[in-house]
Amino acid sequence: KVIRLQDYQVPNFQITKTELHFNLEPTETLVTSKLQFERNAKSENKSAALELHGQDIEIQSLKINGEELTDEQYQVNPESLTVFSVPDVFEFECVGKINPQENTSLEGLYKSRSMFCTQCEAEGFRKITYYLDRPDVMSEFTTTVEADKALYPILLSNGNPIEKGELDNNRHFVTWHDPHKKPAYLFALVAGDLSVLDDTFTTSSGRDVALKIFVEPKDLDKCDHAMTSLKNAMKWDEDVYGREYDLDIFMIVAVDDFNMGAMENKGLNIFNTSCVLAKAETTSDTGFQRVEAVVAHEYFHNWSGNRVTCRDWFQLSLKEGFTVFRDSEFSADMGSRTVKRVEDANVLRTLQFAEDAGPMAHPVQPPSFIEISNFYTLTIYEKGAEVVRMIHTLLGAETFRKGSDIYFAENDGTAATIDDFISAMSKASGKDFTQFMTWYRQAGTPVLNVADNYDAENQKYTLTFTQSCPDTPEAKSEDKKPYLIPVRLGLLGESGPLPLEISDLGISGVTDTVVEITESTQCIEFSNVSEKPVPSLLRSLSAPVKLQFDYSRDQLIKIMSNDEDGFNRWEASQQLCVQVIQELMSGRQSEQPVAVDPNLVAAFDRLLKDDNLDPAMVANMLSLPSESYLAELAEEIDVDAIHQCRAQLKKTLAEELCESFAQRWQKTPATVDYKADAEQIGLRSIRNMCLSYLVASGQEQWFGVAYEQFSSANNMTDQFSAMSALVHSDSELAESYASKALAEFYQQWSEEALVVNQWFGVQASKAHPNTLEQVKALMEHPAFTMKNPNKVRSVIGAFANNPVCFHAIDGSGYKFLADQIIELNALNPQIAARLLTPLTRWKKQTQQRQALMIEELKRIQSVADLSKDVYEVVSKSLV
Ligand code: ARG
Ligand code: ZN
Repeated sequence: KVIRLQDYQVPNFQITKTELHFNLEPTETLVTSKLQFERNAKSENKSAALELHGQDIEIQSLKINGEELTDEQYQVNPESLTVFSVPDVFEFECVGKINPQENTSLEGLYKSRSMFCTQCEAEGFRKITYYLDRPDVMSEFTTTVEADKALYPILLSNGNPIEKGELDNNRHFVTWHDPHKKPAYLFALVAGDLSVLDDTFTTSSGRDVALKIFVEPKDLDKCDHAMTSLKNAMKWDEDVYGREYDLDIFMIVAVDDFNMGAMENKGLNIFNTSCVLAKAETTSDTGFQRVEAVVAHEYFHNWSGNRVTCRDWFQLSLKEGFTVFRDSEFSADMGSRTVKRVEDANVLRTLQFAEDAGPMAHPVQPPSFIEISNFYTLTIYEKGAEVVRMIHTLLGAETFRKGSDIYFAENDGTAATIDDFISAMSKASGKDFTQFMTWYRQAGTPVLNVADNYDAENQKYTLTFTQSCPDTPEAKSEDKKPYLIPVRLGLLGESGPLPLEISDLGISGVTDTVVEITESTQCIEFSNVSEKPVPSLLRSLSAPVKLQFDYSRDQLIKIMSNDEDGFNRWEASQQLCVQVIQELMSGRQSEQPVAVDPNLVAAFDRLLKDDNLDPAMVANMLSLPSESYLAELAEEIDVDAIHQCRAQLKKTLAEELCESFAQRWQKTPATVDYKADAEQIGLRSIRNMCLSYLVASGQEQWFGVAYEQFSSANNMTDQFSAMSALVHSDSELAESYASKALAEFYQQWSEEALVVNQWFGVQASKAHPNTLEQVKALMEHPAFTMKNPNKVRSVIGAFANNPVCFHAIDGSGYKFLADQIIELNALNPQIAARLLTPLTRWKKQTQQRQALMIEELKRIQSVADLSKDVYEVVSKSLV
């Protein structure tokens, strides 16, 4: 069944108060709900029946105003309960039985190892009790949790604890009250034997907030980074957005089995352990950064998501796009802004652009869906954040903040829409957003083609911008409207940046500006340009588009070494590598092998010797475009050619610049007292980047060096980078070092689930004919289980994103993945649908692969009892 935005109707009822009582038992938990209903004054249907959402609940009793309902008064369907006739105001009471132990979907109330926890977004609350499980129904919750005292000493829910006590049979209870009205998707409950890290934060108005991070006792030594990140985030939201926290207590709980990264439940955030636990010995720099970002993201939701929530799930990007923008600015302020932008651009351009080009492509505001869980996508989150970033770019920081203040003031305590957000931004700026809304309503990645012309005689320089947007499932290219595209740019002259004079726009005397492209074709004319410049376009990736400009390699090298914009210097290095790899690929295709362009080698050599550039940026510039980015750029993907030519470039650079890599490696000290700050992260990244090239050179001495770093490292970044370089080496001589390292690594870390996941991942992502067999063996490993999403992602997910192995020409990778999807469909539909993605991207593969992929998709489609999640993805990918 397709749900459409255009069919939105206000709810017929509101629930003023929600009182819940949980009697927790692993296989039979009793949930008693007392709900105060009243008809919604805004609803047109004044005599509507009461229709509640509910799933997998065994009804024990149903009452209205204290009277048990008779069988004739209601009807139960697999996903709903209808009470035919109800008064205008009444109390509804339900006692239902649920089975958390057998709930492998990890939605609703379930068990993760020894604890009970919940995940209600988007529509999981309906697996707990019958309810109006939609975000525009907001209620005041009081929750009593009752459980065995020895097994579950800690009992948590949203808000403040208001009562606790002992009960018979070694049981106890705690009652929580949340004073803020909220939709059911923000409800949370946790019960377990947990340790806690305590701290406090004093808000700008002087209120003390108790901060608590609950984890399994063994993980108490891995909470400090999350706590520091939380306090930084609370302060940042006060400073940058004027947002203060609004309860006396803020709690985070880490759970091992979790479908996504984390969840912003009011006052009680629940996290995947992978997004909260961190310590130097077990967690790499990227892990530390992820914890900082996700802790901040969930905290920021307290305003952008909870105080102002979404009217319906078509507004998901209202909270997610805005909150991702907020967390990414926070990370930029905590670390290096340029590095953060490079990281975000990489994710956007490899993963989100591919989504835009695939069968599930959808606008930031989708017009319809079958299963909302399938729309927690890179488009809603990452592209949604880019759209908010463009507003920030167009308005400037100060006006944007004014708009944000208006948005929070006007919508506080309500369930809002994307239009409400835009209306606030428009009020603050006086800007007309009509054309800008195309970013929310049209799917696909716009292509921005730019051509230039220099008129030496009149000292005029003209840039001609032409935009288009490819076909996507909902619309043909020719029916698409032009976007408003903010293009940040500058012009480079022989000896530095040129002053920009654009008389049409009244711009002069600056070297960097933003122009708004609004037409399908539009010219920008620069005057008094004394020499033919090199344009630096789309600085900082000022819009989520594909830029096409026919740069010569000389021009790219010029941007790479001279541009004011650090992002574009990196971008030029990537473009240069792309050009060289593509040249190697066409040489391979025409069987006329070409050599690696010596200009690239020389440029890399200069980079390695550059002591003035931020080491982290040098590392980023030395890092070759990924195979998936190269695939995204290709019309038809040849996975083997991409892999081999990229590897060839890496090997050539490694061999020719061996000395420079060795020197840079030697003079970059290993960090001593681990800190996850920008400076140390930069040092480790350049050092490990050099090591990975040195290992790629194939000289055995460097295998020894890498192995030595692996054994003696005092932090996971250095240990894992060294092991990873050895495992991914294609030299046979490296094999003995790699297998020794892998065996020792497991020995050392077998008790640390998250580290074991990394160990799984590095093996499943090796480009080697044996990898599928290896993956099957890993699935038999005692540490593996299909029931834990992190394990599934680190073995099956890593394999499905290992291009050469997944796309093996015999179809074995596809068949393997399809088998796993079929198994997961019954166990955990959300994870099954997500894991399916690589198989749905068949359109750009070669014909032979297309046929094999389609065959497996059809096999999945024919499975009986296909979940909505998998059904939607598989059927859309076969159109
Ligand atoms: N709102 C959460 C976040 O972005 C994600 C929840 C995802 N849940 C789901 N069922 N897909 O932080
Ligand atoms: Zn979020």
